[in-house]
Amino acid sequence: MTIGIGIPRADGAAKVTGRALYVDDLRPEGCLYGATVRSERAHATVLAITLDPSYDWTGITLVTARDIPGRNLVALITEDQPALADGVVRHVTEPIALVAAPTRDRALEAVKHVQVTYGDLPYNLDPEAAEGHPVAIYGTDNVFKRIAIDKGAAAGTVAGIVHEGTYRLGLQEQLYIEPQGMIASPREDGGMTVIGSMQCPYYVHKALKALLGHDRLNAVQAATGGGFGGKEDYPSMVAAHAALLALKTGKPVKLIYRRDEDLRATTKRHPAIFRIRSVVAPDGRLLEWTASTIFDGGAYNTLTPVVLSRGILHLTGPYRCENVHLSGVAVATHTPPNGAFRGFGAPQAMWAVERHMDRIARGIGVDPLVLRRLNLLRDGDTTASGGVLTDTGGFAVLDAALAAAEAPLPPITRHPGAGTNHARGRGLAMVFHGCGFTGNGEAYIKGKVGLELRGSRVTILTASTDIGQGTETIFPQIVAAELGVPLEWVDMAPHDTDLVPDSGPTVASRTTMVVGGVAQKAARKLREALQAETGLATGDIATLLAARTSSAPLRVEHQYIDDGSVQWNPDTYQGDAYPTYGWSCAIVDLDVDRDTGEVLYRRFISATDVGRAINPVLAAGQLEGGALQALGWATSEEVVLDARGCMRNDRLTNYIIPTAADAPEMVTLLIEIPFAGGPFGAKGIGEIPMDGPAAAVAQAIEAATGAVLDNLPMTPERVLGAM
Ligand code: MOS
Repeated sequence: MTIGIGIPRADGAAKVTGRALYVDDLRPEGCLYGATVRSERAHATVLAITLDPSYDWTGITLVTARDIPGRNLVALITEDQPALADGVVRHVTEPIALVAAPTRDRALEAVKHVQVTYGDLPYNLDPEAAEGHPVAIYGTDNVFKRIAIDKGAAAGTVAGIVHEGTYRLGLQEQLYIEPQGMIASPREDGGMTVIGSMQCPYYVHKALKALLGHDRLNAVQAATGGGFGGKEDYPSMVAAHAALLALKTGKPVKLIYRRDEDLRATTKRHPAIFRIRSVVAPDGRLLEWTASTIFDGGAYNTLTPVVLSRGILHLTGPYRCENVHLSGVAVATHTPPNGAFRGFGAPQAMWAVERHMDRIARGIGVDPLVLRRLNLLRDGDTTASGGVLTDTGGFAVLDAALAAAEAPLPPITRHPGAGTNHARGRGLAMVFHGCGFTGNGEAYIKGKVGLELRGSRVTILTASTDIGQGTETIFPQIVAAELGVPLEWVDMAPHDTDLVPDSGPTVASRTTMVVGGVAQKAARKLREALQAETGLATGDIATLLAARTSSAPLRVEHQYIDDGSVQWNPDTYQGDAYPTYGWSCAIVDLDVDRDTGEVLYRRFISATDVGRAINPVLAAGQLEGGALQALGWATSEEVVLDARGCMRNDRLTNYIIPTAADAPEMVTLLIEIPFAGGPFGAKGIGEIPMDGPAAAVAQAIEAATGAVLDNLPMTPERVLGAM
């Protein structure tokens, strides 16, 4: 059995030895280098694009919107975002033109000599002023999406103790280690191949098809140095640009972002503002919960409506309440578009919910832990949208985390420079996270996985990519277990849209749980195909292989089947918002330096319901990495925009992410409450570690110092100010 074993990563050796080829490691013959001319204005008409006559343009090619053979857009959900601005720019860093040159240095230099003449227009960067703002960016009212969910009695009709709070958070950068990058190469059939750093090859394929006006093209994933959502949609933009340059020059073109450019130009976590009004009984039981939010989508739609959707559907947190009123709006502002980032709206919502639970606890004088235990969702409860919960893990993860927290704290060893005037605190947060696409997303996408048998070798054909989270290891474990064959018999085909079927995007904590499930069913089909071919009834693959007379490859494919277990109405937002939920409890122990406001993490405990850990080592790695990313969001990561909406701190010296030196001792507990719809019971776990830590940190800071922080990030300056 290959399930539940921490086998080493399939891609691990190649990555640690440097053999793995990332896009910048690839050097196609005659390759040119691309660079991007970007808007310096938040909102302007582009009056002219001219070439500096004093610059030597020999060997340099310029591409503008006029060179686009198909439609000028980055096709995704809606069709509002152009691949290259045509006549008007709506945010700073918006791509206006492209250059290709024989070297990267020359390409970067040439960009500076492309002169753009602007006619400035008024703009708005404030999401709270966006709806109905006189300067329209999107539609007539700047609203990308509006959602409302109501359950129970009318808002404001329930009597009890009322608390109201406002909670805010800013942008967060995904900060994948490898910046965005793509190589486009003209194909002999007149088509185009793009290879690069990406989560979703078929998203890139779709975008290029619209842009180029044909589908003689394939998108290939190179080894990818992290995504975290940042390589869900933006690679389509980079691929589009590389392809336009390759098309015009007739040569391969490599387009790799510099880190500062990547920070300024690409999508980030949506900033949000939440207002929550709760009504509780004297003991803390939730009687009514009314929450509203504004998400800042930036200048184009990208994935914003779906992010808002997930945000709203998590806006009760993991708590039961009969009378719920949730509403939200995602608006357009003249900032670079925001997009997917691990958690996809849920971490924002959970921050507000957990801070509000602490406000209630403070207000009525109840222990925050007691308040949570009292209200925690359990099997048979209904969510805000009326879905009935099963396989809930709230109490199991809470108890497991609390038990682990009894162990004595490790000594401070990692902060030798820290002062001694410390206050110690502990904080706890409870979260749930919908696994897989929201609502009927899976039924709509209908992901496919193929299996190809050659001799005794089984190759998995899937568009689900490995972006560091372990797909290359997990899928063979699932298929080998289902077939009952050694792991060594199973491998993965390259993620090339010419070779693999569309499994849906690599997003939404769906890869193991949903696509892994499709792979498991494909394996059953392969066994059945062998039984049909050999006329044998046995399920033993070795016997079936021995009985085969044909040596021809055998290929099967399975497509996701909607079994009706998820009932969702996308118009009314009623029903099962997700196939199931993951549950997690975070407990953080920290010191606050009273002199500086700096937070020193001592220990981070998490207990997470993973359904079933296919590979416990990789699962724990996912959870620990996500937790550290969330701790960075909590206390150190802050995107600072200038008056044009451009990121000022576009360096790793001033956009501060945690490193190993900042990491606390981590205790990571995997709790297994199986989900019948997942392979071997697995639930999705990619995003849930992002949800809880920030709120746990806020509670710990409050416990240590009395300072109440309701806005993220809790930088030393803000902590000191609140103290
Ligand atoms: Mo993910 S944030 O669903 O790419």
